[in-house]
Amino acid sequence: MRKQIVAGNWKMNNGLIQTKSLIVELKQQTKTSNAEVMIAPTFTNLWHAFEATRQDDIEVIAQNMHFAENGAYTGEISAGMLKSLGIQTVILGHSERRAYYNETDEALAKKVSTALENEMRVIFCFGEELSDRKAGKQEDVVKSQLVNALCHLKAQDFKHIVLAYEPVWAIGTGETATPDQAQEMHAFIRNLFRDRYNDEVAENLSILYGGSVKPSNAKEIFSKPDVDGGLIGGASLKAEDFYAIVNAF
Ligand code: 13P
Repeated sequence: MRKQIVAGNWKMNNGLIQTKSLIVELKQQTKTSNAEVMIAPTFTNLWHAFEATRQDDIEVIAQNMHFAENGAYTGEISAGMLKSLGIQTVILGHSERRAYYNETDEALAKKVSTALENEMRVIFCFGEELSDRKAGKQEDVVKSQLVNALCHLKAQDFKHIVLAYEPVWAIGTGETATPDQAQEMHAFIRNLFRDRYNDEVAENLSILYGGSVKPSNAKEIFSKPDVDGGLIGGASLKAEDFYAIVNAF
């Protein structure tokens, strides 16, 4: 049985005071679904968030990391540094990292390997731009992002990989992929891993959808058979909205 996951990507939002109060509010919410709940605060607040949720059913995860173990990389954070805080999971390949910080498939392949070598779990993000979809190239784009960054891995590595399909045109725009568009892409992705690896890898891979997921549309998106959860941006910054999404399963 695949894991259902709802992860809140806080992006570059919330200083320490807001982080403290949002976590207090999150802890007051009730979870009625089986979904695993994760939050990704910014680096400077990871330690507080980790400590504050130690007793709770919330995993604190990181938004990014460098591929090197350590060294002269000013401003960067390594897997070992995250692990030293107790962080076990990292988001890699977010479209904002690809677009604004030139993260390439090649760099992401290295980051994924480093994360796995450090026994971390990866939430790997990918997705096409609007121009790709308009040209009908969304499957080609997604396939090349996945193959280039992940297909050097062995079948057993996929126990530590979660995928997050985030069409760029749906991120922060209020425009969501329709549940059918999400299902179509998620089924394509699962079949890609069935072809490249085997049924077991494909069937156990959790594939999240991200892009303008809200309490009002989460239930319909999560009802699709190949959608195993969501990576939530804006709506994860409000405790009630976030748990309405968590409980949409
Ligand atoms: P929004 O939910 O704000 O569209 O952001 C999605 C996202 O980028 C999550 O990583």
